[in-house]
Amino acid sequence: TVEDTDPARTAEKKVRVPPGVTVFDSASWNGIAIDSTCGGHGTCHKCKVRLDRTEPVTRHDAKTFSADQLDAGWRLACLVKATSDLKVLVPPLTTRPKAATVGVGRQVILRPAVQKRYVKLAEPTLEDQVTDLDRLLAAITDLEPRADLHVLRRLPKVLREADFKVTAVIVDEELVDVEPGDTTEQRYAIAFDLGTTTVVATLLDLVTGTPVAVASMLNKQQPFGGDVISRISATMLDPLALERLQTAACQTLAQLAAQVCAEGEVDPAHVYEACIAGNATMTALVLGIDPEPLGVAPFIMSTPLPPTVLAEDLQLGLHPRARAVFFPALGAYVGGDIVAGMLASGMDRDKRTRLFIDVGTNCEIVLSDGDRIVSTAAPAGPAFEGGAIRCGMRAADGAIEVIKLDASGEQPVELGVIGDVEPKGLCGSGLVDAVAELVKVGLLDSSGRFVPEDVAKELAPALADRLTMIGQERVFVLHRPTVDASPEESVVLSQRDVRELQFAKAAISTGWTLLLEELGLEHRDIQQVLLAGSFGSYLSAASAVRIGLVPQLPVLRIVAAGNVAGEGAKMALLSVRERAGAQTLLEEVTYVELSDRPEFNDRFVEQLAFSHGG
Ligand code: FES
Repeated sequence: TVEDTDPARTAEKKVRVPPGVTVFDSASWNGIAIDSTCGGHGTCHKCKVRLDRTEPVTRHDAKTFSADQLDAGWRLACLVKATSDLKVLVPPLTTRPKAATVGVGRQVILRPAVQKRYVKLAEPTLEDQVTDLDRLLAAITDLEPRADLHVLRRLPKVLREADFKVTAVIVDEELVDVEPGDTTEQRYAIAFDLGTTTVVATLLDLVTGTPVAVASMLNKQQPFGGDVISRISATMLDPLALERLQTAACQTLAQLAAQVCAEGEVDPAHVYEACIAGNATMTALVLGIDPEPLGVAPFIMSTPLPPTVLAEDLQLGLHPRARAVFFPALGAYVGGDIVAGMLASGMDRDKRTRLFIDVGTNCEIVLSDGDRIVSTAAPAGPAFEGGAIRCGMRAADGAIEVIKLDASGEQPVELGVIGDVEPKGLCGSGLVDAVAELVKVGLLDSSGRFVPEDVAKELAPALADRLTMIGQERVFVLHRPTVDASPEESVVLSQRDVRELQFAKAAISTGWTLLLEELGLEHRDIQQVLLAGSFGSYLSAASAVRIGLVPQLPVLRIVAAGNVAGEGAKMALLSVRERAGAQTLLEEVTYVELSDRPEFNDRFVEQLAFSHGG
């Protein structure tokens, strides 16, 4: 729970973050601004928060706080990791920031495309017959905007009604509006992560660079199918489906826009720009572009650089001349969301060898050795989202997300359940944990098969009775709702579920193995693994290593990166320089197609086993 003490902001907010994420990042990802000038690197000593329990004192804390303050729970937010429930008091910002901390510790100097200038103009006279527009433009000394028709229609009236004291609104060097009086403090934009499953919106205050409100909801395209392929198929089967899918996407964005504006008490007419980061299919659909060529070989996009459109064309309900900008894409399966993610994680800025994995139905993988960057996509299938898993469900209340098994201990099965309610099913991170723990205690062998009963009794006596059958299939009972509940009524992991996960993890690990070969690297060369996306960020690093989903590395090198697509969209709104950086990435990153590689199948079969991770 983050208790926000800034009276201008929501009083108290409960947020859920992956374990091990710093309090600073947890707040920033959830729209709560904390003072900082170092971007969460422990050097500016500004990110002061008060915790409801005593955490170890770092040398930076000792330099920043008095003994009394330390006793009262004051700590630097970027040095405290959220490992269990924690209540945090966030003081209001003390200074108006010139930079914002976004993404994976990226410091962004504020230079938004949206600018405002308040001007007091001399009224025209018979001696001074300068036109309205020239009069206004002459007063704006540091920019040379073009004017659009919308402004010319409003200018004469607004100037005279406001006694020639007006605010010029400039978006990307175009004068888009003139507002009466001084409205320079009202300058907002919305960053959208347009996911196939979930859509997230962040309302940003462009004056301070801070998030004002965050909201998320399921993509309204869900009735057309859970993944991009079923949505593309829908457009191929029904000529009206494309329009319906476009409308559904636009309605999702519009509803979220209304929600964040209401929550942040911001007039939607003061939102002048939106940035949308989505995969290639989502981007095509929201723009009403036929996605069919994306779904069939040779997988061709209509363009890697989607055009900027008026937000009004998408009916987002913002300022009438607000722009909607899109992220460029590298390929049909490494889309704008991943380019945004690369920007947010600084893949092109960092000199370390880093592996970026956005785990999902389509899993995007990027590898950089500090010089070259290669990327690919691996079709992991729906297992991580609960699809094709017997008791699979999305990460919602009742989903088991953490599992600890103890072969002989007093508490053989320990479950972490979202919402602390009765377990109903297993979400993706729970699935990975379940398999990893079963490999650890020896109930799953390296080929992914449940071991025979006698071996189970010997290796894990406290757990062996949970290994049972449903029909012809072996299952492991994770949770029985009542003591005498049958396996059918229980939450179980089945042999087939293990196979599904094996295929998914083999697809992913084949992807990064081939990328490592492409750059002539070994897995131990990797200095950091970033697990990104709404699923990847919640994965237990230890479990991911154990099943071989990520390279076998010390868990400290594996970092939850959060919703990096949304963070990239925020960066593009906060800085035109960063926005240009996204375009540069297109030239810097080489896309590697894996499916036509002769060695792909051999590698895939090698990666199916759990042995190297177990
Ligand atoms: Fe600078 Fe924590 S953000 S010290």
